[in-house]
Amino acid sequence: MTKAFVVGHPIKHSRSPLIHGYWLKEYGIAGTYERLDVAPAEFPDFLKGFHRQGFAGGNVTLPHKEAACRLVDRRTERAERLGAVNTLWVEDGLVWGDNTDVLGFMAHLDRSLGTGWEQPVGTALIIGAGGAARAVVAGLQERGIPRILVINRTLPKAQELVRDLRDEGPSSLVALPWADIDPAVAEAGLVVNTTSLGMAGQPPLDIDLGISPGTAVVADIVYVPLRTPLLAAAETRGLRTVDGLGMLLHQAVPGFARWFGVTPQVTPELRALIAADI
Ligand code: ATR
Repeated sequence: MTKAFVVGHPIKHSRSPLIHGYWLKEYGIAGTYERLDVAPAEFPDFLKGFHRQGFAGGNVTLPHKEAACRLVDRRTERAERLGAVNTLWVEDGLVWGDNTDVLGFMAHLDRSLGTGWEQPVGTALIIGAGGAARAVVAGLQERGIPRILVINRTLPKAQELVRDLRDEGPSSLVALPWADIDPAVAEAGLVVNTTSLGMAGQPPLDIDLGISPGTAVVADIVYVPLRTPLLAAAETRGLRTVDGLGMLLHQAVPGFARWFGVTPQVTPELRALIAADI
């Protein structure tokens, strides 16, 4: 029986057990995927000892992603670049860490928009500069988007992101103050919200999509609600939209494949199951 986990603090809102539980059943695998609440003070011991508790690995969520990146024995180049780990496994007695948020975001864009979507984008605008923004920027750099603008309420955080990631690939990466949002929206072929604005209980992200190019794509990583005010506004203007649930589903694929030995599919049925829980 293979065991995996998702560890965070708090953890009760995580949808990951529903996703992995669905796949375990779907593929007839005798395994478990457990929700573990581990406080930051206990996290280092947990990370070093989970395999002695019989776990093959697991997912890491807030607030442990950065600590996990520091504490693992080995990390992938992508995790190293982002300074954050969301997937753990064991190889030859060593704990490895990867960041699958990048793959999750890109796989979802590919599925939603069709491959080749990146060709006409030109400029991408990323709103926010936290961990999720770093994953999105890294993914867009890997695809060679020529110009990436990062706008954040706290400008120094956007500048720090740009400093950390600017040498990765040919994209020109620029940090901008919030006051520059209108010209940035007017230029961007892809707009991605990575802040918590628009999440249930939070104010909406209020930007003027009326000045977007007609071919622009608007993506949100918020998935509660599924149709955020930003996505609704984009639809009203006839722009293509990409919601946040797909990233959550696709980032789960590589971990499941490692622990349970089967590469699972993100199906409409799985999407509907998770959407019904939101
Ligand atoms: P995550 O890892 O999910 O990206 P995070 O690191 O806490 O989370 O980052 C949250 C992002 O949302 C930040 O860019 C934050 O802006 P600040 O750096 O200025 O804090 C942004 N954010 C959160 N609430 C916001 C608000 N009310 N207005 C604008 N930006 C907000």
